[in-house]
Amino acid sequence: PGFVVERVEEIDSTNTELMRRARAGDPTPVLLVAERQTAGRGRLGRPWQSAQDAAQPASLTFSLGLPLAPKDWSGLSLAVGVSVAESLDPSSSARVRLKWPNDLWVDDRKLVGILIETAVPQGDAAQRYVVIGVGVNVGPREAEGLRMPPAWVQEWRPDATPGELLLEVVPPLVAAVQAFAERGFAPFAERFAARDALQGREVQLSDGTTGLCEGVGWGGELLVRTADGLQSITSSDISVRPR
Ligand code: BTN
Repeated sequence: PGFVVERVEEIDSTNTELMRRARAGDPTPVLLVAERQTAGRGRLGRPWQSAQDAAQPASLTFSLGLPLAPKDWSGLSLAVGVSVAESLDPSSSARVRLKWPNDLWVDDRKLVGILIETAVPQGDAAQRYVVIGVGVNVGPREAEGLRMPPAWVQEWRPDATPGELLLEVVPPLVAAVQAFAERGFAPFAERFAARDALQGREVQLSDGTTGLCEGVGWGGELLVRTADGLQSITSSDISVRPR
């Protein structure tokens, strides 16, 4: 499926912009790439700050918006994470790992954040317009004020640029979204497991419960063995961290 490519120097947030358009009734498939975001957003209402260096933009920030009608939405964020991780780190050593539901980590430091939102375009309730926002740390950045110490692509690819990474990440991502729409999370389950950052580790859920992470299920749910038994966590509103 085709999409329009738009590149802007500055915007509040590429996700916010595509959600605005969808809500206003414009479901055109778009790849919106921004050099800088002034109000980048993360999951759970958190801000997403890009590394600030005017001379050399040190992050890649884009959103892909397109109408989608999968039978089941569960696991989309994980499938997106798998695709981006494999593009940034195709090696079998898999240094880029996946932190459920869709952060990318290197040694427990955050490399990529993904924010997926959906809108029901006016007058068309059958389809939803999905906005897949991706922020990649490309160059070094300060850790100040961040919950997680950052990782960046130039650690292992010193010459990588945001533009070149965009070309590597987007085509497989479009294919992955298409595959997900047709076949759901199943084609991604093993690939997620191969890079699962939490599997076998003690984790703490945002409600304070702790348990042992036993990986993800076929629908992308997080499996955590707690004192009450095996919990299947589907809500992405919950935050999980290793202890
Ligand atoms: C997270 O880590 O919680 C998700 C961060 C997602 C950041 C990307 S950058 C491009 C797109 N526009 C936004 O405002 N957010 C996403």
